[in-house]
Amino acid sequence: MTKADVLLGLQWGDEGKGKIVDVLTPEYDIIARFQGGPNAGHTLEFNEIKHVLHTIPSGIFRPDTQNIIGNGVVIDPVTLAIEIDSLKELNVDVQESIQVSKKAHLILPTHRLLDAASERAKGKEKIGSTLKGIGPTYMDKTGRNGLRVGDIIENNFKERYDNLKSKHLELLKNYDYPLDELADMESVFFESVNSIRELTLIDSEHSVNRSMTENKKVLAEGAQGSLLDIDFGSYPFVTSSNTICAGACTGLGIAPNKIGEVYGIFKAYCTRVGSGPFPTELFDEDGKRLATKGHEFGATTGRPRRCGWLDIPALKYAIMLNGVTQLIMTKADVLSAFDEIKVCTHYKYKGETIDYFPYDVINNDVEPIWKSMKAWDKDLTNVTSIDDLPQELMDYVTYLEQELQVPIKIISVGPRRSQTLLRD
Ligand code: GDP
Ligand code: IMO
Ligand code: MG
Repeated sequence: MTKADVLLGLQWGDEGKGKIVDVLTPEYDIIARFQGGPNAGHTLEFNEIKHVLHTIPSGIFRPDTQNIIGNGVVIDPVTLAIEIDSLKELNVDVQESIQVSKKAHLILPTHRLLDAASERAKGKEKIGSTLKGIGPTYMDKTGRNGLRVGDIIENNFKERYDNLKSKHLELLKNYDYPLDELADMESVFFESVNSIRELTLIDSEHSVNRSMTENKKVLAEGAQGSLLDIDFGSYPFVTSSNTICAGACTGLGIAPNKIGEVYGIFKAYCTRVGSGPFPTELFDEDGKRLATKGHEFGATTGRPRRCGWLDIPALKYAIMLNGVTQLIMTKADVLSAFDEIKVCTHYKYKGETIDYFPYDVINNDVEPIWKSMKAWDKDLTNVTSIDDLPQELMDYVTYLEQELQVPIKIISVGPRRSQTLLRD
C-alpha cells in the first residue's frame, strides 16, 4: 500500500503550486485537490501554453493521470464549466480524466452575492476576498445548510436550491444588497449544473483509498497557503478552509498515518494579495522591483500582489504545522540583479525579540529584524543544472536549510516546466 504525498503552499498563496504539481505529475497516478475553490489560480506554462486552473487539479495536462476534485473543495459549477470548455479546446479528455466528489459543496449565485455584500459591509476592514463565494459556502457547510455535488442528480435539487436561496435572500435584505444580477447569474448557474452532471461523480474517499491499496501514487494538491489557514492563518484575514496538511486528511478522506511526503513550497521572497498583516512587506524600490520582476499580479483577480523579503519565523511556523519533509523554492530568478537580498530572522515585538507569529499580529506592529545576504548578477532563467547556479544563491539555500532544518529539493528558476532544477 502506498501513502499519499501532499504539496502545499507555506506562505500566503501563489507560491507556484500549479507549476510544480504539473512538473511532478508524471510520478503520480492521481492528483487530487483537497480544499479551497475558484479563489485559487494555479498557473501552468509549457509548450508556449499558459493556462490558469481554478478548481481543476494541476495534473490535467499529463496523459494517464486521474484528477480528482475532493470533498473538501467548494465548487462553482459556472467556473468549473468554463474551465472544462477551455480544456476541451486544448483537446484534453475531460470526461476521462476528471472525477468529482459527490460530497464537495456547491457555490450558489447567492453565495457570491453574500460574499460581496459582506465585504462591502466591512468597509475598510474588508478581507480582500476574491468574491468567489468561498466564505459563505463554507459557512453553509459547517452550518449544515449546504448543497453538495451529489444533490444535483436528485429529483428535488431545484426545491432544495430554492430553499437555500430564500435563506440567502433574507440575509441579503439585511445587507440591503442589490439583486439586479441574480436572475442572469442563476440562468448561467443552471446551464452549468447541466454540464457538471455529465462528469464522473464519485465517492472520492473510497476511490483514493482503494487506489493506495493498489499501490497507485496519489499527490494531494493544496490551494492558498498556510498563512491563510482558517485556524492558524492571520485571522480574520484568511480563507475559510484548512489549507494545511491536515486539510488533505479531511478534504480527501485520507487517514493521517497514510500521509507520506509533505512538499512545502515557498517563493524566494514573500507576496500577499488582499488585506491583512504582512510583517516583511516592502514599500520601497525593492518592493516595486520584486513586483515588476516577479509579475506579481493575482492569477484569479488580476490584483497587484504586495511584496516583501522572505520571512523565516513565518516559514518555520508553516513547516511545523504541516510536518514538511521536503522544501521547494520558486522564483529564485526574480532575486537576480538585486544589490543585496534580505531575510527576516526574528521580529521585534513589544520591545522583545521573538521568532514566532504573535496572536495579536493584527493589532500590533511586528518589526522585522533583517539579515542581509550577498546577491548575484546572473540571469537564472536559462540555467539547466544546479551546478551552474551562482555561489551566492547556493549560500542562500544552505542558510535557509540550516535555519529551517528541512532540505530544499527543488529550485525553480522560471514559470515554465523546463525551468525546474532538481537536487539529489
Ligand atoms: P499558485 O497559486 O501557487 O499555483 O501560483 P500562481 O500561479 O498563482 O502564481 C505563481 C506565478 O509565478 C505564476 O505566474 C507562475 O507562472 C509563476 N512562476 C512559477 N514558478 C516561477 C519561477 O520559478 N520563476 C518565475 N519567474 N515565475 C514563476
Ligand atoms: P492560490 O491557490 C493568494 C486570499 C484573498 C483574500 C483571502 C480570502 O492561487 O494560492 P477568499 O476568496 O478565500 O474569501 O479570500 O485569501 N486568497 C488567495 N491569495 N492565492 C490564493 O490561492 C488565494 N485564495 C484566496 O486574496 O485575501
Ligand atoms: Mg495562485
